[in-house]
Order: sequence, then structure tokens, then C-alpha cells
Amino acid sequence: MSYTVAKGNQRVDPDQVAEAGKIPEGVVDLRSDTVTRPTPEMRRTMAEAEVGDDVYGEDPTVNRLERRAAEIFGKEAALFVPTGCMGNLIAIKVWTHHGDEVICEERSHVNLYELASMSAIAGCMPRVARGEDGILTWKQIEAVIRPKIYYDSQTALVCLENTSNMAGGTVYPTAQVEDICDHAHALGLKVHLDGARVFNAATALGDDVAHMTRKVDSVMFCLSKGLGAPVGSMIAGAKAFIEGGGDRCGGPDRTGKVAGATAHRS
Ligand SMILES: Cc1ncc(COP(=O)(O)O)c(C=O)c1O
Repeated sequence: MSYTVAKGNQRVDPDQVAEAGKIPEGVVDLRSDTVTRPTPEMRRTMAEAEVGDDVYGEDPTVNRLERRAAEIFGKEAALFVPTGCMGNLIAIKVWTHHGDEVICEERSHVNLYELASMSAIAGCMPRVARGEDGILTWKQIEAVIRPKIYYDSQTALVCLENTSNMAGGTVYPTAQVEDICDHAHALGLKVHLDGARVFNAATALGDDVAHMTRKVDSVMFCLSKGLGAPVGSMIAGAKAFIEGGGDRCGGPDRTGKVAGATAHRS
């Protein structure tokens, strides 16, 4: 028997999966940046975390984490969510209506890997464009915007991915993101950034994420990718975006507080 265990449709025997979990001493596991294990300090931090009800805004640990994330991104507010997929879905759901189209690169995570949640839950169609090395230009985006005709589905959102996972970790020049945002906004479109690994992009550019994302309407980033936390993601944007998104998709996470503590620590 075989099944898919990783991106790229790698098929392996389940027995080999168990084997793969046993990493020999001294070997660094680079299959994914999600295979990190909590360190003893992280486990201690989780056990000792101050907790409360996040839905009532009474979890001091999550509140601190969200305030810090908003500050780092220079946005009004942020929300802790269990996964990057949920963060992207919340953004898509907030920025669109059923029947809208979302423009994304053809190898993007929202198109290939999120169980078609953009369609299944948000009721949207992905409209893909091919960018060189996964990086889209405004010209490529503009070419797939739907005309304003009453029988056509309508474009509502552009979703960029930085770094681009399936293109091998390629990075958007910030000026290109800003050019896309300026043009998209002029047409009344929103721009969401799937920034699962946006801090890697920031390191590559020698820039800070607040500057890199100042024109996008929303950004999702993963605490569990390259930042060392074992779980968790965040979305950031205007207060109205965060307030609109969180409850609708079950974003505020009453169970996430302990994980949030590790994220805050790491
Ligand atoms: C670019 C990108 N976006 C979103 C996600 C989803 O994150 P999560 O696995 O936390 O749902 C991933 C996961 O690998 C990703 O690579």
C-alpha cells in the first residue's frame, strides 16, 4: 500500500514513513520546516503559559502574541490561527463573495494544496497565471482579470506567495509587490499575501516585513515555518479585516493558547 505523505505527490510505503520519523543522531532533517519538535524549554513554556478565553479576548498570552505580530507587520491587528491553510482561507473568505475569482500563481499553495478550500468553503474559482519562477508581474495578473460582463464571474482578489514554495523559495522584489498592489487597488481588487515563509524572504532581501507588506491588504505567516514554533500561523491586516475574519472561520482558537505561548517564546 502507498499514499501521499508530502508535497509533490511523493508516494511512499507507510512502513517507510515510520522509518523516516527516526532521524539518526547528528543528522538534520531538512524534508520540511514543519518537522521541528518542541524543545524542553518550549514544552515548559507551554505548560506554564498564562491562559484565558481567547474568544472573549481574555487570553493574555495570545493577546500579547497578536499585538506583537501586528506591531512587527505594521498592521492594525493580527489573529492567531492553528494553520496557514486556515489563515489563507479566512483572508479569501473575507475579501470575496461566492462566485468570485481569485488570481494566483499556478504553483501556489492556495491553488494546489489547500484541499480546494477556496472553492469548497469560500465558493471562489482560482484563476491561475504562470509567473517566471513562481513570481507574478502585474502584466501577467492583468491578463487574467475578468472583464466586467454580467455573465462572467468577477475577479475580487489577487493572492501572492512570498516566498514561493513550489518554485523553490523564490522571493518577490518589494517594488513588484507594491506595483501589483497599486494596480490592483486602482481596480478595486484586494491583495492577500500568503507569507508562510515571508521572514525567509525578508532575510534574503535584507528588508523588514512591515516594509515588504505595507501595501497588501492582508498577510498570513506561519510560526511553524522557519520560526521554530511547532504549530500555529497568524494573519494580519486592518482591524475590520481581523474582526470580520476571525469568528466567521473559527479563527480565534480557544485551544491554541498553549501553542501560542511557544510561538511567542520562539
Ligand atoms: C506557501 C504555503 N502556504 C500555506 C501553507 C499552509 O500552512 P499549514 O501547513 O500551516 O496549513 C504552506 C505549508 O507548507 C505553504 O508552504
